[in-house]
Amino acid sequence: MNGAIGVFDSGFGGLTVVSEIFKQLPDEEIVYFGDTAHLPYGTKSRDTITRFSLRIMEFLKKQGVKVIVVACNSASSHAIDALRGRAVIPVVDVINPGARAALRLTKNKKVGIIGTTATIRSKSYEKAISKLDSEIKIFTKSCPLFAPLVEEGWIDKQVTLLIAKEYLGPLKDEKVDTLVLGCTHYPLLKKIITRVMGVNVKLVDSAEETAVEVRRVLNEKNLLRKGGGETVKHKYFVSDDPEKFVSLGRNFIEKEIRNIEKVEL
Ligand code: DGL
Repeated sequence: MNGAIGVFDSGFGGLTVVSEIFKQLPDEEIVYFGDTAHLPYGTKSRDTITRFSLRIMEFLKKQGVKVIVVACNSASSHAIDALRGRAVIPVVDVINPGARAALRLTKNKKVGIIGTTATIRSKSYEKAISKLDSEIKIFTKSCPLFAPLVEEGWIDKQVTLLIAKEYLGPLKDEKVDTLVLGCTHYPLLKKIITRVMGVNVKLVDSAEETAVEVRRVLNEKNLLRKGGGETVKHKYFVSDDPEKFVSLGRNFIEKEIRNIEKVEL
């Protein structure tokens, strides 16, 4: 089916999910919405995140998308029930795919979760994991400085390593063998996180897992696009400063961002 995949995030971070969808589903078109006027979501309340998310979903529906991917962990943690309650098309979140991957990977049943303050406060990952296996021990830590560091491009600076040691030390002490990167920005910090946690701790990249889930959902509903190749066109919308989005977006995605428009919701 030829409708696009609608993806939204508070800003740039959801491009990590888009990048994975490009790899795994190269024939699909993306309509992306980055709510850059309201970034960050990770410090905001459930009500506010839900209000913004519902508005974005209505906008994407008007663009004729066939599925909506809530690429933002904070929005997936707080707004998913409200979104699913009002959507007539499938809505994919980033929490459940990440939780399933963590269960597949853990051997000692000790799983760490890192994310924004909003995501950690919501306990969304704990709920999703415990539902699947109540014996898993879960250790969480919010890492509010990670997203701004990534947006600054400081992914391999000494200061980032020091902050990572501070945040991740308690999870390392608990000997988690699997760590869920529960925020769109954290896949870009994989190198530093592995330096702190050690090579034996498996990292769950929710972007990768979410793209797998998008393929599964589209396949199940018979919505996969057959062929596309050169004719595939993507469209980006932001609520503020398209130029900044294009330039910061380069940290998250290899493909050049073209076809971008500012919209006020
Ligand atoms: N996209 C957000 C998330 O995954 C991170 C950035 C923000 O706080 O808005 O939670």
